[in-house]
Amino acid sequence: MKGIVLAGGSGTRMYPLTLATSKQLLAIYDKPMVYYPLSVLMLAGMRDILVISTPDSLPALRNLLGDGSHLGLDISYAEQAEPRGIAEAFIIGADYIGNDQTALILGDNVFHGAGFPRILRACRTRLNGCTMFGYPVSDPERYGIGEVDGSGALVSIEEKPLRPRSNDAITGLYFYDNDVVEIARDLTPSPRGELEITDVNQTYLKQGRAHLVRLGRGFTWLDAGTHDSILAASQYVQVIEKRQGVRVACLEEIAVRMGYIDADACHRLGAGMKNSEYGQYLMEIAQSLG
Ligand code: G1P
Repeated sequence: MKGIVLAGGSGTRMYPLTLATSKQLLAIYDKPMVYYPLSVLMLAGMRDILVISTPDSLPALRNLLGDGSHLGLDISYAEQAEPRGIAEAFIIGADYIGNDQTALILGDNVFHGAGFPRILRACRTRLNGCTMFGYPVSDPERYGIGEVDGSGALVSIEEKPLRPRSNDAITGLYFYDNDVVEIARDLTPSPRGELEITDVNQTYLKQGRAHLVRLGRGFTWLDAGTHDSILAASQYVQVIEKRQGVRVACLEEIAVRMGYIDADACHRLGAGMKNSEYGQYLMEIAQSLG
């Protein structure tokens, strides 16, 4: 399965913060925002990852993540020249995806919860069509919304409905079989000229091949697309990290724990940042595993 992080958009809602940098490079507490979605793909067991972003933002993302080899990953890059919608990612990434399945995650989504890697891997193994992840929110009119029947089967999906049929937001993490490329190519752009991810998901729903895995209220999902939500996400990560002494979305730690790099490599990555608490943490992790 190929992973895609869509880190596009001009970030106009975040001006002036994003006048000179991309939204996905802004800090969520102690690390760049893009670490969080990337960590999810890693935890799902993906090592081939395509980062899609604007021509302006790609050089900085490339500087940050490189070819991924320091994390035992193979990271590629592609441009989304104009904001033509989330589903355009599958057209941009068509050659990259090839005949594979794919997982798409939006560059501003933060997921955190016990047992998440197990859930992700089970969804990969059982993938039949499209799998989405639902999360209860208090403001459902801001999101794609999924409605399930009594047996847990998904019966409707609506994008930012005025009268939501449920409060299960469809989060920005999606698993698809290879048909997604053709489905995206066949989409009609929305009135605002975008290829909507909800239209992709509705196509799978009509085929009876769309599934919603509902992440419960004990789980955390945040999208960091506004000044307030980026601050809330930072505070959330700060509280967890200070309280538990562990780091959320620490890519090097995930890489070493997944066996993608060895403890020595993890230690070297930490030593390269040893003036920061993050670097110190990596060295401690490496020592505890070495
Ligand atoms: C997009 C999707 C929406 C989804 C959300 C999750 O909305 O269109 O269905 O619920 O991401 O972050 P956007 O944030 O682009 O408005």
